[in-house]
This record gives sequence, C-alpha cells and structure tokens, in this order.
Amino acid sequence: MSDPIATAAERIRRARHLTVLTGAGVSAASGVPTFRGPDGLWRSFRAEDLATPGAFRRDPRLVWEWYDWRRQRIAACEPNAAHDVLARWSQRFPDLTLVTQNVDGLHERAGTTRILRLHGSIWHVRCARPCSDGQTRRDDRVPLPEIPPPCICGEPLRPGVVWFGEMLPLDVVKQAGEATARCDVFVAIGTSALVYPAAGFIHEARAAGATVIEINPETTGASDAVDLAVRQPAERALPELDRLLQ
Ligand code: OAD
Repeated sequence: MSDPIATAAERIRRARHLTVLTGAGVSAASGVPTFRGPDGLWRSFRAEDLATPGAFRRDPRLVWEWYDWRRQRIAACEPNAAHDVLARWSQRFPDLTLVTQNVDGLHERAGTTRILRLHGSIWHVRCARPCSDGQTRRDDRVPLPEIPPPCICGEPLRPGVVWFGEMLPLDVVKQAGEATARCDVFVAIGTSALVYPAAGFIHEARAAGATVIEINPETTGASDAVDLAVRQPAERALPELDRLLQ
C-alpha cells in the first residue's frame, strides 16, 4: 500500500487551488490546550458557563476571567513547525486559502497573512451592547488591567470570538464556502470535525470533487469522508510533507 504522506504530497504538489482548514490540534504542540482531547478545555470547563451569550449576560466577570487566563496562556506560546509550514505554503501557493477555527492568532504570528477566521479572535474585543463604537478592535494586553474591560460607553467589552449559539461571521463563511467549492485539494488539520458549520466544509469539499486529506493522529467526525488520512501530529506531518514538496 502506498504511503499516505507521499500520496498527499503528490496531490498537494499538483493542486491549483488548495484550501486548508485548521483546528485546535495544530496549536497543541505550541502548548495551547485543545477542547476535546484528554487535557481538553471542555473536560474541565462547561461551555454553557463560559462560551455562550447567556453565560456572558449572567456573569461577564467569570467569562472574562476565563478568557483572560486563556489569553495569558496563549501569549506564552510560540507558533510550532505546523504553523511555520502553513505560513511558507501561503507564500508558495498563490491560491491557498487558510480557514481556521482557532482564535489563538498563532497562524498570524507565524506569518500567514490571508486567514479566514471562522470563530473570531481572542485578541479582539468589541462592545457587548453594542454601542455606536461597536467596532471590533485588537487588544493585546495580558493580563487585562480591568475585568470585565469597559467600553467607552460604560458597558463591558466582550471577546471578539464566536460563542455557541451565535452566528459565524457571514462574509467569512461565504469566502470559506467559495474557497471550498473551487479547491481541488482540501486539507483538514487538527480538528475533531464535530462543530458545524466548520466541519461541513470537509464534506462540501468532498461533494465538490476535491481530494480531501486529513492530518490528525486520531480519527475524527469526518474521517469517513476523507480520501487520505495522515495519522500523525501536524507538527511532524507538515514538515515531512514540505520536505517531499521540495
Ligand atoms: P477539538 O479539541 O475538538 O479537536 C482537536 C483535534 O486535534 C482532535 O481531533 C485531536 O485528535 C487533534 N490533535 C491533537 N493533537 C494534535 C496534533 N499535534 N496534530 C494534529 N492534530 C492533533 O478542537 P477543534 O476541532 O478545533 O469552538 O474544535 C472545534 C471548535 O470547538 C473550536 O473552535 C471551539 C470548540 O468548542 C468554539 O469555541 C465556538
């Protein structure tokens, strides 16, 4: 049987349009906790208490304490070899679209410039009301000097992320859908493929005729729908793929 990583490299080499979907697993080697792994965030915390609009209405301080803690953890992490390879590919393949569910900003820190962030960014804030200053803006301060951080209108600011029960940004979903429909190779990396609509792009890519490659040490909710599975951690598989592409 042929080596999946060699076959994956061959398909990627011939790709005219490449779409990559990343999840928490791509940042695991950087020290950012995943959500559903053995040490995943949803093992110790309840999403209903921390990552829903209702949770924020009930207790904005608690929600912000959790986000401030995550921001501090992420600030201490560096991009890993998987982020670095994807940043190089974003230069090498003019028609590469990187779609991420990650809010940690590590793809940006590695140097990838064109990123579709389906779930927003933990480094952005906006008014929770929202007021006339309802713009989303960057706030890198760790730890935050005041919790919850106040908007100029006096209401609390909220994290610029998508919570359970909220709509994803429509323009981002539209662009990700278009990139999925036109790609000939789709690579899903480090996602459990359990959260929609993000996971749906894997199935849409397959239905549109793309070769779908999964890079994940474990099987996922989408494993049955993929053409090729590379059962390795991203920080090992991506440098190897990159080497085979040279
Ligand atoms: P999960 O925590 O659900 O899944 C992480 C995936 O990464 C699992 O399939 C692991 O097997 C895999 N993994 C772990 N280490 C890896 C490594 N070194 N290399 C490659 N893969 C590895 O994270 P997501 O799929 O990103 O949403 O979760 C999707 C969404 O659910 C998140 O964006 C977040 C969460 O709740 C919101 O908060 C709205």
